[in-house]
Amino acid sequence: MKFSLALAALAGLEVTAFGRPSTGVQPRAEGTITYVDQETGFTFSEYKAAFSLSANIVFRFALPSNAPSGPYNTVIQAVVPNQLGWIGLAWGGNMVRNPLTVAYPNGQKATVSSRWATGHSTPGAYTGATYTLLNTGNKVNGSHWQFTAKCAGCTTWTGTSGSVRISPTGSSRLAFAYSTGKAASPSSNTSTIPVHDTPNYFTNDFSLGQNPNFDALLQRNGISAASDGVVFVDGPL
Ligand code: HEM
Ligand SMILES: *[C@@H]1O[C@H](CO)[C@@H](O)[C@H](O)[C@H]1NC(C)=O
Ligand SMILES: *[C@@H]1O[C@H](CO)[C@@H](O)[C@H](O)[C@H]1NC(C)=O
Repeated sequence: MKFSLALAALAGLEVTAFGRPSTGVQPRAEGTITYVDQETGFTFSEYKAAFSLSANIVFRFALPSNAPSGPYNTVIQAVVPNQLGWIGLAWGGNMVRNPLTVAYPNGQKATVSSRWATGHSTPGAYTGATYTLLNTGNKVNGSHWQFTAKCAGCTTWTGTSGSVRISPTGSSRLAFAYSTGKAASPSSNTSTIPVHDTPNYFTNDFSLGQNPNFDALLQRNGISAASDGVVFVDGPL
């Protein structure tokens, strides 16, 4: 086993949790890790979602520890190669009837847009989820664009078969979509976007992104209950 791991390392291959090199164009299955972001202070669960053999979108999710039994807030962060014009995250793991987080670069930041699809056509605006960009963690450089936003409304919704709530301490299957095509009006959160390339799926372990000081971290990053009008439900500061 040691020998094959070393060989894989020499060959520059990704190695799965089972010690086998992963091959082909399927998303890599190395799973979720914990990532502590020095810039925002949040602890995220992180999944690197490969969309080609050499490039991935990094998705990160920070949750409050001891989330209430109903809706709870999250912070979503994504790091996206500049070759992509927009990305989408489907919280229920498919395109239709679940909160869709859509984002596209706009100058030195990104626009995050709340969408909902009732079919396989351009998703419309969704008022059930609200995004507020943190005052850190939003940037663009020569290779990537990155956004970090609080979402109120991403973890509970009414789907095709009734009420859904993402377990804050469990794993669930998410879907993502992406395109190299750009948003038509990048500064608008209702911009039209071109259709995606082949969508894909991953399982994220949300238990790896727990934050006992979630609301205090939001405040540290410029988001107070008063500033975005969404009442905190995550407990005392
Ligand atoms: C921009 C407008 C969009 C159009 C025209 C569109 C169209 C479509 C079509 C035609 C399919 C079926 C593909 C097939 O069966 O081979 C599909 C599937 C899918 N789309 Fe979209 N889509 C759009 C936006 C989005 C967004 C924003 C997301 C967000 C994540 C998304 C996520 C998915 C997923 C996960 C699937 C896989 C099948 C399913 O879950 O229904 N799409 N889309
Ligand atoms: C766009 O932003 C406004 C102001 O923050 C917000 O009220 C609206 O719900 C957002 N729409 C979408 C589609 O994200
Ligand atoms: C560019 O930004 C991304 C996302 O913040 C970061 O991961 C990467 O290290 C940055 N690259 C350089 C050269 O600074």
